[in-house]
Amino acid sequence: MRAALTAPYPPEPDPEALATSQALCERIRDRIARAGGWIGFDRYMEAVLNEPGLGYYSAGSAKFGPGGDFVTAPELGSFLARAIARQFGEMLGSLTAPAILEIGAGSGTLAAQLLDELAEYGGGAVRYLILEPSADLRERQRDILGRFGNRVDWLERFPDRPVEGLILANEVVDALPVVRFIKRGGAALPLGVRCGSDGFEWAEGGDDAGLGEAVASLEAALGERLPDGYRSEVCLVLGGWIDGLAATLARGAVLLVDYGGVRREYYHPERSDGTLICHYRHRAHDDPFHLPGLQDVSAWVDFSACADAARAAGLGVAGFTTQGLYLAESIASAADPVALDAKTASAFRTLVLPGEMGERFKLLLLAKGIEPPGLPGRDLRAWL
Ligand SMILES: C[S@@+](CC[C@H](N)C(=O)[O-])C[C@H]1O[C@@H](n2cnc3c(N)ncnc32)[C@H](O)[C@@H]1O
Repeated sequence: MRAALTAPYPPEPDPEALATSQALCERIRDRIARAGGWIGFDRYMEAVLNEPGLGYYSAGSAKFGPGGDFVTAPELGSFLARAIARQFGEMLGSLTAPAILEIGAGSGTLAAQLLDELAEYGGGAVRYLILEPSADLRERQRDILGRFGNRVDWLERFPDRPVEGLILANEVVDALPVVRFIKRGGAALPLGVRCGSDGFEWAEGGDDAGLGEAVASLEAALGERLPDGYRSEVCLVLGGWIDGLAATLARGAVLLVDYGGVRREYYHPERSDGTLICHYRHRAHDDPFHLPGLQDVSAWVDFSACADAARAAGLGVAGFTTQGLYLAESIASAADPVALDAKTASAFRTLVLPGEMGERFKLLLLAKGIEPPGLPGRDLRAWL
């Protein structure tokens, strides 16, 4: 989950937002009808998040911060940027043409913070590339990053020429579309979407060989079968996405920051209804059919699957730890302690405390052709 601020009574969407949601629903209904009355949840999730001009990330809602639906780490201050600059500033300074490629930069806040922080850590000449599929967010990022001139550039897909430096993605993997499934009679059946009398609703689909193989291989890795009736998700596009990262990185590191767990936690017998989380105006819930396109829909990240895909793509797994341990070690033990006023101290607690974002959020460090500086915090790679 992302962090939600307290908001007991979320305001109703305005008429313009409702019209956007209705246009998106119309498009999804049409897609369901053309597919014979049912689509997989991954197609639904892709549409509600990314449908050009209508999806949650591509249309104009506020999304981030107190006026939006959730807060991410950079919206709570520059702690994460400071820790990343501290860790990678020297490494970047030692490369001949260093670049940071940030994937899914949201409001652009982390990019601005990192460019400011890097100046202190020897990374003043680093180019900053942003791969952002949302045209709306690219515009917002251009506004906030205008002061950095042509050091920042935008891409709509992975670059043709590999980069040397750091690839960074904070809370992006959780937005990759997942396939939802249910175990029935020993098989994994897709749980998809159909049109009901009162909006979209869940419906089981028929046998799907790709899904069956994916669930069988995760059960083999777990060393046990998931029980009948068990519902969860699996991200079938993750491997291809990580292949893309590996092909894009000539030499350097990849840092994935997200909420989630290792395979044993993700598919724990007690987590028998999966990990979907939706955010609307700082309220977290698990109904992805509420206000399509106006709320965020995400799923936990399976970091064991990320590590396996990375190794298969030729990347080394160089570190794994929790956000709480990472920030506490990097920021709190730094030689120049941060003087915290009450508001900043409260934001720091939200980022590091185990009951808040500190334990659910993890960092996975991947490497290619270089020994990257270690992740501050306890090395938890044995958990993967
Ligand atoms: C939850 S926001 C995180 C924003 C930002 N990284 C932060 O920490 O505030 C998810 C971001 O990922 C982008 N995104 C969603 N799907 C993506 C994909 N398949 N590839 C790249 N970016 C994606 C969204 O447009 C958005 O910028």
